[in-house]
Amino acid sequence: MLIKEALQLGASKLANFSRNLLEAELLLAYALGVERIYLHTHFLEPLDDFTQKRFLNFIKRRQKYEPIEYIIEKVSFYSNEFYISHGALIPRPESEILVDLALQTIQKNNLKNIAEVGIGSGILSITLAKILPSCIFQASDISSEALFNAFVNKEKFQVSNLTLHKSAYLDFNGGKKKSFDLLISNPPYIKEGFILPKPLDYEPSIALFGGKRGDEILCHLIDLAYFLEIPFVICEMGYDQKESIYNYAQKFNYKNLVFYKDLAQLDRGFILEF
Ligand SMILES: C[S@@+](CC[C@H](N)C(=O)[O-])C[C@H]1O[C@@H](n2cnc3c(N)ncnc32)[C@H](O)[C@@H]1O
Repeated sequence: MLIKEALQLGASKLANFSRNLLEAELLLAYALGVERIYLHTHFLEPLDDFTQKRFLNFIKRRQKYEPIEYIIEKVSFYSNEFYISHGALIPRPESEILVDLALQTIQKNNLKNIAEVGIGSGILSITLAKILPSCIFQASDISSEALFNAFVNKEKFQVSNLTLHKSAYLDFNGGKKKSFDLLISNPPYIKEGFILPKPLDYEPSIALFGGKRGDEILCHLIDLAYFLEIPFVICEMGYDQKESIYNYAQKFNYKNLVFYKDLAQLDRGFILEF
């Protein structure tokens, strides 16, 4: 089979997907270990048996709605290509807003010590740590698979101002107060029992479900920041959690609480200043 024929076959097998030709190209490029552009300049090159089988296997996985990012082990975030594998949440474009807001908050208030709870693949802390080499980042996750992803990406981008901890919340810091200036997190915030659409089935439930109500981890992060005297908290949240987070925050004497929206104009997160 020629590259050209493999692409036609792949695209026809993925006809249910809106970007079927692009996806076939991404899968074939990955099967061959080349950039996509190579396919266009080698249309008439034959595939060896091994590559052909590998490609058809990728197509089969995609037909079952496995996210393409897990198959090609790559995901783009903030214009960088991160490694991603099963066990870590696939970064969402809306999380780029959290990065922008964290950047503004850090720069405006001259913050230095940043903590992240639930680093996953590392996209938030690594993106920020690359842009802000004089800041010090410490991040936790309870999942070894997620931490493996974060470790691979930390090495890939040679980020030396980030330390990873296998820990729940900020337990790694032993409850010390005033250690951090900012806490960022995109924690699990889906309500337990919510029936997920098919592709989300492939993502780790530990990264998705936040408890019976869904906002339990978010509320705990607010508690933590208050008790550990962390002046700023920026979190992503569910589109329907603005009211419950607002109500929860009322038990504290905070300076400022601002909610932000995502590109679809849905409520998506908050910046809390104590
Ligand atoms: C929604 S994912 C976010 C991953 C990444 N920060 C991102 O934005 O793509 C949440 C992450 O929090 C981790 N997690 C869940 N509960 C945690 C806890 N109590 N302490 C630390 N990490 C936790 C999960 O393993 C998962 O990697």
